[in-house]
Amino acid sequence: MTLEIRRIQPFPDARTAVVTGAGAERGIGRRVVRTLLAQGWSVVAADIDGEATEAFAAELTAELPEGAVQKVLGVGVDVSDQASIDAAFARIDAEMPQVVALVNLAGIPSPHSIFELTPEIWDRVMDVNAKGTLLMTQAAARRMIDGGVGGRIVNTASITALDGGGTFSKTGYAAAKAAIQGLTRGSARELGQHGITANVILPGPIDTDIMGGTLTEDRKAGMSADIPLQRVGQPEEVAGLIGFLVGEDSSFVSGTSISVDGGKHMH
Ligand SMILES: NC(=O)c1ccc[n+]([C@@H]2O[C@H](COP(=O)([O-])OP(=O)(O)OC[C@H]3O[C@@H](n4cnc5c(N)ncnc54)[C@H](O)[C@@H]3O)[C@@H](O)[C@H]2O)c1
Repeated sequence: MTLEIRRIQPFPDARTAVVTGAGAERGIGRRVVRTLLAQGWSVVAADIDGEATEAFAAELTAELPEGAVQKVLGVGVDVSDQASIDAAFARIDAEMPQVVALVNLAGIPSPHSIFELTPEIWDRVMDVNAKGTLLMTQAAARRMIDGGVGGRIVNTASITALDGGGTFSKTGYAAAKAAIQGLTRGSARELGQHGITANVILPGPIDTDIMGGTLTEDRKAGMSADIPLQRVGQPEEVAGLIGFLVGEDSSFVSGTSISVDGGKHMH
C-alpha cells in the first residue's frame, strides 16, 4: 500500500528558491540552503559577499549525487541596490529553473541607542533590512506571477520588533524589523490572488555570528535566562520552520508572523 498525501498546490519538479543572507559560514542562510536542497529545490545562495556564496555553491554542487537535476548557484547581491538585484536576477533567469520561492534573510543589526542612531545608520539599517526585503520581493514575485506557478515568500523580522530592543539590537533594528512585518502583510494581501503566500518569521536569540563574532558561553547563558527552553536557538531550528513555510504543506498559511524563540516572547 502506498500512502498518498494530496497536495492542494503542487509545485513544479524543477523549481528554484532564492535565499539571501547565505554568505555567513555560521549563519541561518546556509542552513536554509541545505534544508531546501534536501527538500528537492534548486537553490540560489545570495549574499553581499559574492565570493563566499560562490565557494559555498561549489561545495554543495560537489556534494550533490551524480546525475542530480537540482542546481545550486552562488551570487553576489546587495539587496539594498536595485542594479545589483537586476544583475543577480539576470543570472538566475539564464541559469536556473523557475523561481517559486524567496527567503529574505539578509539583514544587519544595530546596537545603537536612540541618541547614537544617526540618519546615516538609520538609513542603512532600513535599506538592508526593509528596503532589501521589498526589492527582492518585487523581483521574485514578478517571476512567480509570470510563470503562473504561485509561490512562497518568507521574510525575517525578529522578536526585537515586538520587544523594542534586546540582546544585541535596539531601536533602529526594531523599527526595520517591524517594517518587515507590515511589508509581509501587504505582500500577502496583494500577492495572494496569484497563489503566492507571504509569511514572516521572528527569531529570538540564535547562535550565529551576527554580533560580529561567536557568542561566548557566558553570553549565551545570560541570554538563556528568560527563555522557557533555557537556551539560545540553533540555525537548523530556524531552517526547519522556513522549510515548512516554503513547502507545499503550508499552502493556506499566509500573512502570519511566527516566532522561533524558545518561548521567549509569547504573543
Ligand atoms: N541570529 C539571531 O539571533 C537573529 C535573531 C533575530 C533575527 N535574526 C535575523 O535573521 C537573519 C539572518 O541572521 P544571521 O544570524 O544568520 O546573521 P548573519 O550575520 O550570520 O548573516 C546575515 C547575512 O546577511 C548578509 N548581508 C548583510 N548585508 C547584506 C546586503 N546588503 N545584501 C545582501 N546580503 C547582506 C551578510 O553578509 C550575512 O551573510 C537576519 O535578518 C537577522 O536580522 C537573527
